Amino acid sequence: MDLESATQFAGRKVDHLRLSLDHKNQAIGLSGLENIQLIHEALPDLNFDQVSLVGRSLERKISIPMFVSSMTAGHTQGVNLNRILARACAEKGWRMGVGSQRRELGDAKAAHEWAQIRKAAPRVELLGNLGISQLIRTKTAQVERLVEALAASAMIIHLNPLQECIQPEGTPNFRGGLQALERLVKSLSVPVVVKETGCGFSRATLKRLRGIGVAAVDVSGLGGTHWGRIEGDRSDEHSARSEAAVTLADWGISTVESMINATAMKTDYEVWASGGVRSGLDAAKLLAMGATSVGFAAPILSSALRGEKELLRKMSVFEYELKIALFCTGCRTVAELQTKKVWRWRAR
Ligand SMILES: Cc1cc2nc3c(=O)[nH]c(=O)nc-3n(C[C@H](O)[C@H](O)[C@H](O)COP(=O)(O)O)c2cc1C
Repeated sequence: MDLESATQFAGRKVDHLRLSLDHKNQAIGLSGLENIQLIHEALPDLNFDQVSLVGRSLERKISIPMFVSSMTAGHTQGVNLNRILARACAEKGWRMGVGSQRRELGDAKAAHEWAQIRKAAPRVELLGNLGISQLIRTKTAQVERLVEALAASAMIIHLNPLQECIQPEGTPNFRGGLQALERLVKSLSVPVVVKETGCGFSRATLKRLRGIGVAAVDVSGLGGTHWGRIEGDRSDEHSARSEAAVTLADWGISTVESMINATAMKTDYEVWASGGVRSGLDAAKLLAMGATSVGFAAPILSSALRGEKELLRKMSVFEYELKIALFCTGCRTVAELQTKKVWRWRAR
C-alpha cells in the first residue's frame, strides 16, 4: 500500500514539470551523441518517398520507432497534458509512456482520469509506469489493475536510485528489486519493460536483467534531464541534499555508453534508448547503434506545453529528420539502419 498522499504526489509532479525544463537541470553535452557520426552515402539507390519508418517491437508492428517517454500523471495539469500527448501519439502512431501510476495504488479515483484519456484517444498505444521501490511493496494483482486502467500494452518499471536518494520524500529502498521484477514478469498479462530515468545502465546491470523474461530495457542514459539536479533544486538551500546534488550533477552512464554496453553483449530483450535525445538525427544514431525504439521526454513536454498543434509539428520534424538520416545513409528501412554498420566515432 502506498501511503503517500495524493496532494504530495501531485505537488511533486508539478515541481518536476517546471524544473525539468530548466536548462541547468539538463546534462547538456554528456549524452555522447555528439561523438557519433552517421556515414554519408552520396549515391543512395532509392527515392526519398520509398523510405519507411515501420518496424517491429514487443512482437508487433510499429509505424514509427520513436515514443514519448514516461512523464505525466496524477496532477491537475496532468490530465490536460496527457490528453494532448495521447491524441498526438494516436495521430502520429507513436507509443506513449505515461508517468508513474504510483498514486493509483492508493487512490481508486485516479483510474477515472485514464478513462478520460482513453476516450480522447481510443487507439493510442499506452505503456504503464511504476517505480521499482513501489513494485517491491506491491502485489502483482494491483499492478494488473494499473494495466487494466490504461488498457496498457506493456508495463514499464523505472529504476531511479539517484533520484530517490536526493528527493526529499524519496524512497531509496531497492532491496529485492530483481526478485520483484522476476515475480512480475511471470504473471503480468502484458510485457514488462525496465528503464532508467537518465542515469543509464552498466554492462553488469544489463547482464543481471537477462534470463528473467523482461521484454525490453530502455537504457535512458545521462545526457538529458538529470533527476539528481532536479531533486537538489527542490531541496532546501544549504541542505545536505542540495549540496550532494551539486557534487553528483554529472552522475550517470551516458546514453551512448549505455547503448554500447547493451549491444556489446547478447541480450534476450529489446534495447530501447532515451536520455538526451533531442532530434530525429539523435534517434537515427541510436537506431543505427542497435536500438529498437527511441524515446523523448523533455523536448516533447516543452512542445506539449505550447499546445497540441506545436507538439504535432515537433513530432513531424523529428520524423522528417529521421527519414533524411535513413535516405542519406542509403537505408530504405529502419531494419537496414539497425543492421548495416552506418555509424562511426566522429573523427576529431
Ligand atoms: C517532467 C518529467 C517527468 C518524468 N516522470 C517520469 C515517471 O513518472 N516515470 C519514469 O519512468 N520516468 C519519468 N521521467 C523520465 C523520462 O521518462 C526520461 O527517462 C528522462 O527524462 C530522460 O529523457 P529526456 O532527456 O528526453 O528528458 C520524467 C521526465 C520528465 C521530464
